[in-house]
Amino acid sequence: MKKITIESTFEVHDTIGELATPIQNLIQKASEARKKAYAPYSKFLVGAALELENGEIIAGNNQENASYPSGLCAERTAIYYAGAKFPNQKILRMAIVAGSTLNPTIKPIPPCGACRQALSEYEVKQNRPMELYFMGTSGQIAYSKSVENILPWIFDKTVL
Ligand code: THU
Repeated sequence: MKKITIESTFEVHDTIGELATPIQNLIQKASEARKKAYAPYSKFLVGAALELENGEIIAGNNQENASYPSGLCAERTAIYYAGAKFPNQKILRMAIVAGSTLNPTIKPIPPCGACRQALSEYEVKQNRPMELYFMGTSGQIAYSKSVENILPWIFDKTVL
């Protein structure tokens, strides 16, 4: 028997002002996208903005549906659009801003499991880490150096 230990390390920033200006801008884009989310059922609005190697920024938000499972998270809305429009561009980083309209969301909101799996597909495809910044509608900002850091030992194309 042997034990395998996998460590994840995050940075937590107390204010946006601690971050470099391009990162602040990306978070701002995610925040703007969040405000246009279609989340009439959960009232939990999420915006995601990603930056491509060519400097392009793609933003998306969650899109809900009366048939609940037919809705889609913000992260996947954004990354699938990027994949469709710029299939050969590497994704440098993604910012995610999430929060309820019913009560304040002041802690960092990490991507759900399904989104981690979807994001990891692109990280593996591009063979380069995708940085993640995530936060509530205010408060601390968490940083992960890669998707793998929040979804270790993934199911990816190498197992097929
Ligand atoms: N949601 C996202 O957009 N991203 C996540 O990573 C987690 C959840 C959305 C889905 C749904 O519209 C609402 O948040 C509540 O779950």
